[in-house]
Amino acid sequence: MLKPVFVLNGPNLNLLGLRQPEIYGRETLDDVIDACSTLAEELGLTVRFHQSNHEGALVDWIHQARNEASGIIINPAAYAHTSVAILDALNAFEGPVLEVHISNIYCRETFRHNSYVSMRAEGVISGFGTEGYYLALRRMKTLVSK
Ligand code: DQA
Repeated sequence: MLKPVFVLNGPNLNLLGLRQPEIYGRETLDDVIDACSTLAEELGLTVRFHQSNHEGALVDWIHQARNEASGIIINPAAYAHTSVAILDALNAFEGPVLEVHISNIYCRETFRHNSYVSMRAEGVISGFGTEGYYLALRRMKTLVSK
């Protein structure tokens, strides 16, 4: 049995749909979770979702993934640009990692242009809106089926 794919979301993504909709759209995190769950079922994957505004909580879930997940899809949000701790934790995970950003981080402020997580991720999706999560899930299916 294939272990679940962890879908991890960082700070402020609990406000998805409400926060800066002109950048992040009107879909809520619950909408994304519902759509990902439906797609995962179609793909024959199981998914587990976590969101936290705290760096350490994200690190703890990445550690948990070492035994419990086949792959990780992560939108680290602002921690992408700052967190060596999340990068270190991901480096201790052996399965595939895909990074998602709803907005195109390369056409925004320069401090968003670097992501520590990208040094570890097999692939990065940025600027596809919430559709990025669904594309990442399809790619994850390929990676964990190898
Ligand atoms: C984000 C981009 C980050 O720069 C920002 O801090 C976020 C969301 C995105 O999904 O586009 O909170 O990760």
